[in-house]
Amino acid sequence: MIDIHCHILFGLDDGSDNIEESVRMAQIAVNSGIKAVVATPHSNVPNSHQNFWCEDIANRLNQLNQRLEQDQIPLKVFPGNEIFANGDIVEMLKTQKLLALNNSIYPLIEFDTYERSASAYRQLEALVAEGFTPIVAHPERYAFVHEDTNAILRMKRRGCLLQINKGSIKGSFGKSAYYISRKMISKQLADFVASDAHSPYMRTPFLAEAHEEVSLMSSFDYAELILNQNPAKVILNKKI
Ligand SMILES: [Fe+2]
Repeated sequence: MIDIHCHILFGLDDGSDNIEESVRMAQIAVNSGIKAVVATPHSNVPNSHQNFWCEDIANRLNQLNQRLEQDQIPLKVFPGNEIFANGDIVEMLKTQKLLALNNSIYPLIEFDTYERSASAYRQLEALVAEGFTPIVAHPERYAFVHEDTNAILRMKRRGCLLQINKGSIKGSFGKSAYYISRKMISKQLADFVASDAHSPYMRTPFLAEAHEEVSLMSSFDYAELILNQNPAKVILNKKI
């Protein structure tokens, strides 16, 4: 499996605090059958995590990959951001101030929990118009989706892809996220399941159970598609 949403890079946000925690997260990922992870620190969040791409972040990524090699932990970590939709994110992506997942056409976009649907669609449309294919991070967690689940189809019709959190399927993010994420899987409307892991203790990168759940709710082939094949295409920047 490949995890496209993981706060594994240390000291940048509310994810891993230090390199030791990052290594422990990597070991958990490998134990659950993950071969590659995209590091997606929170970025462009007003009055909070900025994490615009810079040498310091690149160095941390190199440091972590080197350490994993040294410790013989077979996991490759790729660059990325979880991009908070605010301001001119199209321009920030074009100038690589913000990074799409492994520098592909696929930026991972997060909204404020109470973002209005019209504003979300406008920002997604702007990205699509410029040739990006936005991946909406955990749509099952937003109020505008809880208020009207047709928002799921409206985002897909606009050319977006949708990433569910593994925790939502288990009920860790409340009832609405639980029911919506499971409905999306049973109707095969989700394009990815990712860990959105923040630590080796809670919200971990262990994805094996999510693969099992998706297989049970839908099919093994669909689990492979959204936990393996689609994420691989993102990393290779291939069309989904
Ligand atoms: Fe996240």
